[in-house]
Amino acid sequence: MNETNETQKASAPIVSGGRADPANPRPLVELAHVDKHYGRLHVLKDINLQVCQGEVLVVVGPSGSGKSTMCRTINRLESIDSGVIRIDGELLPQEGKDLARLRAEVGMVFQSFNLFANKTILDNVTLAPIKVRHMPRKDAEDLAMDLLARVGVESQAQKMPSQLSGGQQQRVAIARALAMKPKIMLFDEPTSALDPEMVNEVLDVMVELAQEGMTMICVTHEMGFARKAADRIVFMADGQILEEGRPDEFFDHPKSGRAKEFLSKILTH
Ligand SMILES: Nc1ncnc2c1ncn2[C@@H]1O[C@H](COP(=O)(O)OP(=O)(O)OP(=O)(O)O)[C@@H](O)[C@H]1O
Ligand SMILES: [Mg+2]
Repeated sequence: MNETNETQKASAPIVSGGRADPANPRPLVELAHVDKHYGRLHVLKDINLQVCQGEVLVVVGPSGSGKSTMCRTINRLESIDSGVIRIDGELLPQEGKDLARLRAEVGMVFQSFNLFANKTILDNVTLAPIKVRHMPRKDAEDLAMDLLARVGVESQAQKMPSQLSGGQQQRVAIARALAMKPKIMLFDEPTSALDPEMVNEVLDVMVELAQEGMTMICVTHEMGFARKAADRIVFMADGQILEEGRPDEFFDHPKSGRAKEFLSKILTH
């Protein structure tokens, strides 16, 4: 059997809360006047951004523009020098239990899958719900199997990560993040380390999540995905948000010279 073609099982939606109410948008992520330096490098410059419930934001921009750093500040994997970040209205705490609690609201999927190599796929997905959410093992396993089915890898549950393809591992990483029932999912170039034939199986899962109403911030160079799934595109360069707009506006009518130059480079490859 070609396991990468396993069909995704239909079951109850993963996303609680459902689609945003357009008449009453609720900001789930807010960055206000966020600045950050790495030594003398001013890596985030007065970043102001709100992402509302159910919104899918795609962040694009040249290498080194601060996209990953911005994502990492949102669950405080990186500190900021000034400004404020709120998650669902709550200020992001500096440390301690409150930080752990808010961090659990934000699922993160990176370029490298970071699965625990010495644990089975099932254990990778159940670990945090058991340890952090104190979920009984049986419930955590039921949830994990449901999520693994949703991303099309339930038959891999007893294997070790090294026995899976890159695309399968990345889908497990998504299931693992979803197991914490996050309010927001951050994706930082989740397909850029994958062989080309595995990119779509991961993007399909992301599109499905977006359609279910998950609030998502995605750094990606997959422009097909961006056009299809994004509600809004943010273009970053040199640590600043230079443009933001609907995908058709941004791709068809970029305003700044930097965005035009960036798009001409990526779209010609
Ligand atoms: N831990 C760090 N210490 C010092 N400088 C860093 C650190 N992390 C990133 N930088 C620098 O900060 C800038 C922004 O990096 P970042 O990784 O956020 O960019 P990016 O837009 O995600 O780029 P890419 O598209 O290549 O992933 C770069 O100049 C980078 O070299
Ligand atoms: Mg990056």
